[in-house]
Amino acid sequence: MGAWGKRDDMIVHSIDPYNAEPPRAALDGAALTPLDTFYSRNHGPVPRIDPRAWRLEVDGLVERTLVLSLADLRGRFDSHSVVATLVCAGNRRADLSRVRPLPGEEPWGPGAISTARWTGARLADVLAAAGVRPAAGHVAFTGPDVSPRADPPQPFGGSIPVAKAMAGEPLLAWEMNGEPLPVVHGAPVRVVVPGYIGARSVKWVRRISVQDRPSDNYFQASAYRLLPAEDHPAAAGLPLSVIALNAAILRPGDDQPLPAGPNPVSGYAVAGEDRRIARVDVSVDGGRHWQQADLGADTGPWAWRLWRATVDLPRGPAEIIARAWDTSAATQPERPEPLWNPQGYVNNSWPRVRVFGRPGPAGL
Ligand code: MTE
Repeated sequence: MGAWGKRDDMIVHSIDPYNAEPPRAALDGAALTPLDTFYSRNHGPVPRIDPRAWRLEVDGLVERTLVLSLADLRGRFDSHSVVATLVCAGNRRADLSRVRPLPGEEPWGPGAISTARWTGARLADVLAAAGVRPAAGHVAFTGPDVSPRADPPQPFGGSIPVAKAMAGEPLLAWEMNGEPLPVVHGAPVRVVVPGYIGARSVKWVRRISVQDRPSDNYFQASAYRLLPAEDHPAAAGLPLSVIALNAAILRPGDDQPLPAGPNPVSGYAVAGEDRRIARVDVSVDGGRHWQQADLGADTGPWAWRLWRATVDLPRGPAEIIARAWDTSAATQPERPEPLWNPQGYVNNSWPRVRVFGRPGPAGL
């Protein structure tokens, strides 16, 4: 077993802070990602928190400040479950760093994404108990883990608009796939914001502040922003929130020799906020012809959709490409080059896998 109870073959980008993604094939076929396979993204050391000593403070633009123990949270509020995909804004960054180097940024492949059934109290119920004041615009979360990477060093945090916080789906979760939340995923309690980039799902959350503006935490105000490609010192960039439409090919892997003829291809597709995956297309001739993939089980509005297809692979070198469409009829951009940005976020270009179609069984 690897660090933090993860499978041995995790691709570990750094051990401390622990940043690891599963090999792409390990995500294939499972609508819910097993806990030992779920990617993990950390900006500082993983804290170990005594659940009995843990307290959550809810303050700011509220009628009454709350200080809740784990027993209070579990006892005073109904528990709810949501199947939600967590995806890091840096998922698929490796393809952007081939366009132009991205020094200092983790070179995530397509595995910085996973899906779980999360169980906990609704953030909306906890905020309602505190009484949100009319001037509220944003709900900010803070964890305890101090990231040396932040400038100045500070605990990890971020915020979401109050309308999203009150929408019902964001949870204060203590369970993941029916198991107690693992330490590396935020035990005893983490925020889960379905439909938003993973950075807003603050782990080991200990403070929720209702305020009139977004969080000024480094990870909201400086990082996780889409900067223009050109060097522009004054640019503040776009704060990232809703997940962009995206897809990846999980099987086959890159540079695999395969028999020419029919071959299975599979992957995932994910859409942001209240949009759903409507269709996934696959091509083996550079996008001149597309065929539609079969979509796997629909596990709800906040989860990815797995897909599979059988493609007819030509002999010789070939590229398998895919593109997803969402219910707003948007589709993915073709190439990563125009998407390059200095922190390497939101690469949602067509996934591509290079393979080699060797002559059929007779030629083996
Ligand atoms: N919360 C805290 N306290 N510290 C962190 O470093 N990383 C964020 C988010 N919440 C982070 C955090 C990011 S960028 C992502 S993508 C998700 O947690 C990853 O969650 P996971 O490690 O459970 O997969």
